[in-house]
Amino acid sequence: MEAFRVIRNSSFLVILLISLCSLSTVRSQLTADFYAKSCPNLKRVVFREVFKALQNEIRMGASLLRLHFHDCFVNGCDASILLDGSNGEKFALPNLNSARGFEVVDAIKAAVENECNGTVSCADILALAARDSVVLCGGPSWNVLLGRRDGLVSNQSGANSGLPAPIDPLNTIIAKFNAVGLNVTDVVTLSGGHTIGRARCVTFSNRLFNFSGTGAPDPSLDSNLASQLQTLCPQNGDGNVTTALDQNSTDVFDNHYFKNLKINDGILSSDQILYSGDAAGVNPTTRSLVDAFAAANGSIFLLSFVNSMIRMGNISPLTGSAGEIRKNCRVVN
Ligand code: HEM
Ligand SMILES: *[C@@H]1O[C@H](CO)[C@@H](O)[C@H](O)[C@H]1NC(C)=O
Ligand SMILES: *[C@@H]1O[C@H](CO)[C@@H](O)[C@H](O)[C@H]1NC(C)=O
Ligand SMILES: *[C@@H]1O[C@H](CO)[C@@H](O)[C@H](O)[C@H]1NC(C)=O
Ligand SMILES: *[C@@H]1O[C@H](CO)[C@@H](O)[C@H](O)[C@H]1NC(C)=O
Ligand SMILES: *[C@@H]1O[C@H](CO)[C@@H](O)[C@H](O)[C@H]1NC(C)=O
Ligand SMILES: *[C@@H]1O[C@H](CO)[C@@H](O)[C@H](O)[C@H]1NC(C)=O
Ligand SMILES: *[C@@H]1O[C@H](CO)[C@@H](O)[C@H](O)[C@H]1NC(C)=O
Repeated sequence: MEAFRVIRNSSFLVILLISLCSLSTVRSQLTADFYAKSCPNLKRVVFREVFKALQNEIRMGASLLRLHFHDCFVNGCDASILLDGSNGEKFALPNLNSARGFEVVDAIKAAVENECNGTVSCADILALAARDSVVLCGGPSWNVLLGRRDGLVSNQSGANSGLPAPIDPLNTIIAKFNAVGLNVTDVVTLSGGHTIGRARCVTFSNRLFNFSGTGAPDPSLDSNLASQLQTLCPQNGDGNVTTALDQNSTDVFDNHYFKNLKINDGILSSDQILYSGDAAGVNPTTRSLVDAFAAANGSIFLLSFVNSMIRMGNISPLTGSAGEIRKNCRVVN
């Protein structure tokens, strides 16, 4: 009797341990074939729509990649950034007059609903559209893990506090990545997303005329590039004017972003500090990662980018019966 109880107790313990283990793997419940039966043409449909959008405007690739990033860093990859409403994430500082591509996401969602309605989450559409954008800009491809569900809230304060700002010190940026389970390798790798896309004058004008009250431009900004940008972004000018984040190969997904940092051609302060450091000094880890990613044909960067995108796509997904499959990406059902 006593022995039986011990056995029962220990098997209870084993079951407890097994369930604890599966709890800790909640983050990797996503699978590449999640919609294989329920929406077999999903990947073709999304790719076709992203292709059309980039044919119309190549920059849209960058905008769609950034939407997935800004989604995942706030309440996990749950399409919370897509919800309309002036108290939501769209009106948070990092997104206001900045995040774009919402109409394209609507078009992709409409095409997907036409193919298999009520089945595919908006969060998964963002993950697929980001991958297809990278591919269409000449970057690497990967198997996107799927099965995310859509969140019920848009978290404006979470976006304001959780998304990195271009004037953040490097340690703050690293801390914001750590807060969502990403490390320094992910910081440098994913910053390489700035190999495509544009930035507005307001996001880097602090570097151009009176950097940190010195009366001069940021010393870690190349002086020729500084005078070009001063002309483009005069003091009291239109802060919405844009320039390429990668001045060398603007719409091509390659490793020129990192080559640029080595010649002080980073656009944002948050870009250049990965290599040149900030007031706190140079971070040897981020600097040597930039060196590695800038090397030769960029194969190290492209491989690392795939790994980090999968890690970013795994940030706290809603799975099982949590959340919902939105009918319209802009509103909860
Ligand atoms: C490391 C911290 C980061 C900071 C501080 C940052 C900041 C910014 C800023 C200020 C802009 C310009 C926005 C505007 O002018 O309205 C921008 C654009 C962009 N960011 Fe980041 N970013 C970071 C990381 C990332 C990551 C992880 C990705 C994706 C993997 C990414 C992808 C992009 C893209 C593609 C654009 C261009 C968007 C477009 O042209 O529409 N960024 N980022
Ligand atoms: C899918 O479409 C069918 C036919 O239009 C409709 O009857 C059904 O309610 C829709 N299902 C969902 C989940 O939207
Ligand atoms: C919003 O984000 C913050 C920071 O991550 C978090 O503490 C808070 O619980 C979130 N709020 C909602 C309603 O999800
Ligand atoms: C970050 O995490 C990845 C994946 O676990 C690992 O390969 C890499 O070495 C880590 N980077 C640092 C700087 O710890
Ligand atoms: C630069 O900024 C500092 C303080 O922010 C100010 O005292 C100084 O007058 C400014 N210099 C110029 C040339 O505008
Ligand atoms: C940028 O454009 C938006 C919308 O058109 C406008 O509301 C905003 O004031 C502009 N911002 C700057 C810095 O000029
Ligand atoms: C781009 O980089 C290459 C070397 O990788 C260099 O030869 C070329 O001059 C650069 N072009 C621009 C516009 O910076
Ligand atoms: C890039 O270089 C690496 C190592 O030198 C090599 O193995 C790889 O095949 C090259 N990739 C391309 C696309 O040229």
